[in-house]
Amino acid sequence: MNEFIEKNIGVMMLLILIAVSFGGIIEIVPLMNQSVVTEPIKGLKPLTPLQLAGRDIYIREGCSTCHSQMIRPLRSEVERYGHYSVAGELVYNHPFLFGSKRTGPDLARVGGLYSDDWHRAHLYDPRSVVPESIMPGFTWLFDTPVDAAVLPAKLRALRAVGVPYTDADIASASEGLEGRMESDALIAYLQQLGLLIKERR
Ligand code: HEC
Repeated sequence: MNEFIEKNIGVMMLLILIAVSFGGIIEIVPLMNQSVVTEPIKGLKPLTPLQLAGRDIYIREGCSTCHSQMIRPLRSEVERYGHYSVAGELVYNHPFLFGSKRTGPDLARVGGLYSDDWHRAHLYDPRSVVPESIMPGFTWLFDTPVDAAVLPAKLRALRAVGVPYTDADIASASEGLEGRMESDALIAYLQQLGLLIKERR
């Protein structure tokens, strides 16, 4: 039998395919239905329109090319950044911003760690608060107003993929944002990161 399989590459490929897909199915299918992966943790709320605008600025400015948002369950990470990331706090994240590059620290639990003023100073000129920093300044965010007009459409798009925004949320998404700058939105986004599981440092 063994010899037959080894001498007939077609049969061997077929059997390998069956073995690999079997392993894959066993690993992946249960994950799709496990509530620990698909259910939001207690207290999880969708981002406010201002925070959501901030998240899109985070994506646009490429913050995730230097910052991850994924604390792995390893002692060195948990001691530095706080409780490891769990799936249930990330179910409304579309797209995920795990990142894979850590030129700067992980930001998954940076919320509440610094004041808004610290963030303002740091985003404008990182070396004004962290002299050895190599992070670039993002000065233009301070004089670019938030584009509020697109927010209802963004909320609607997120609702289509399962984020529970209500009709009222969508209808009022662009309200009250006059005079808010992109820096305000980005800081509002940073300040809520990881707060539901607070343990940090
Ligand atoms: C070129 C790489 C780079 C980019 C791009 C970058 N950062 Fe950073 N960031 C760093 C480094 C390095 C540090 C650590 C030194 C410091 O605190 O400035 C840092 C620190 C931070 C901190 C403090 C984290 C902590 O735990 O102390 C925050 C918040 C932050 N960055 C936010 C951002 C945001 C928001 C953006 C996008 C607008 C961004 N960074 C883009 C490199 C980067």
